[in-house]
Amino acid sequence: MDNPASRTIAVFGAGYIGLVTGACLAELGHRVVVRDIVPAKVEALSRGEVPFHEPGLSELVLGNTERLRFTLDAREALVGAEVAYVCVDTPPTPAGDADLSRVHAVVDDLVSAPHLAAVVVKSTVPIGTGDRIRERLDRAGLSHVGYAANPEFTAEGKAVSDFLHPDRIIVGADDDATADLVADLHRDVDGPVVRMDVHSAELAKLTANALLMTRISFANEIATLCEVTGADIEKVMGVVGMDPRIGPHFLRAGLGWGGSCFPKDGVALKQLASNDGLHLQLLTAVIEVNNLQPRRALQRLKDELGGFGGKRVVMLGMAFKAGTDDMRQAPSAVVASRLLAEGAEVRCWDPLARVTEPEPWARTTRYDDPREALAGAHAAIVVTEWPQLRELDWADVADSMAAPVLFDGRNLLAPAAMRAAGFTYLSVGRS
Ligand code: UDX
Repeated sequence: MDNPASRTIAVFGAGYIGLVTGACLAELGHRVVVRDIVPAKVEALSRGEVPFHEPGLSELVLGNTERLRFTLDAREALVGAEVAYVCVDTPPTPAGDADLSRVHAVVDDLVSAPHLAAVVVKSTVPIGTGDRIRERLDRAGLSHVGYAANPEFTAEGKAVSDFLHPDRIIVGADDDATADLVADLHRDVDGPVVRMDVHSAELAKLTANALLMTRISFANEIATLCEVTGADIEKVMGVVGMDPRIGPHFLRAGLGWGGSCFPKDGVALKQLASNDGLHLQLLTAVIEVNNLQPRRALQRLKDELGGFGGKRVVMLGMAFKAGTDDMRQAPSAVVASRLLAEGAEVRCWDPLARVTEPEPWARTTRYDDPREALAGAHAAIVVTEWPQLRELDWADVADSMAAPVLFDGRNLLAPAAMRAAGFTYLSVGRS
């Protein structure tokens, strides 16, 4: 049944954020048309097939077919549209800035939408993008169309619940009518709407991600100190996180972060500041610590093996985190490339990872069963914290390996149990 407060919405971009946004807005009762420029994607979505793994998303797409459609045609998406969401990607330019050409192309299409009241940008964009879009709208004769920055805080693997039960919904708009309209779209969402100016909304998103990255790099740096002092990072961060002023989240040491957001947003914030002549020293160090993490891990394993040349090494996990098939900017690519460069034969296992780039994966062998990959290997590295690795019979695995050496890059397994199973066991910051 149509909700009287429901709106007609065009969502531009059927990538990760656009699809989650479109499906969740339809679930909230709005009439949504999602537009993408890739024919195969639109065809698959029209058949109800979601092109990536995200819990709960297929159910929303299939359960809202009356209110959710997909198209290649911008004009068709804009028929009757009162709100246009911009969810296209903003990849880095050669100068390292966010490339806004796709965002601007969407804005240029909006002239054909007579009922349009607001443009809402969900893509992560640099501060000042709202001003530029405002000027573009005004030049196109769309001064009556409001602008809102509505950054997403969506973590892969829980994107649907992050949308429908968010900690906060940020609505950055410079006029009340636009802020009211965007807030009203979320009236049935279980989370507080926080209104602010456009610039603050743009910066809030990048700052939140940068602070999470800072926590991870700090934990990783303290983990290194644990290794030289004989302390244990799990114990240290366990009690540090019990302080309610600090909290327990994002203090896990390991091979560092990857994914579609942190690497891109960290560099974008740094770049944005440097365009104004500002050097964000802390953020620079945070990124550097992260880049070093997989390399440090490999150095320790190399010391243990006496070199990688001719060794068979198994990577357990390729996705940038467990629960997703996403390999964008995953530390696994660094691990695989370095191992290959040092002359190792690389085997890998991951239950979901979707390989989209040929390199370095074309030079590795992928297995469906981790035990098969591990048989006859000289070493293994846990790259992604897949919980099923905890269930392996590690004593059996140790017997099947040429040398039972394991570097646990996610501190997933219990050190004492692994040693009892016969392993030379290394991990990050644990005594
Ligand atoms: C993140 C943000 O959480 C989300 O709000 C934003 O919108 C997009 O970026 P996501 O990239 O899906 O989401 O993953 P997240 O679960 O936040 O993990 C990010 C990375 O940090 C992963 O590679 C993870 O393995 C790593 N991580 C996380 C750690 O190394 N240690 C931790 O303690 C937590």
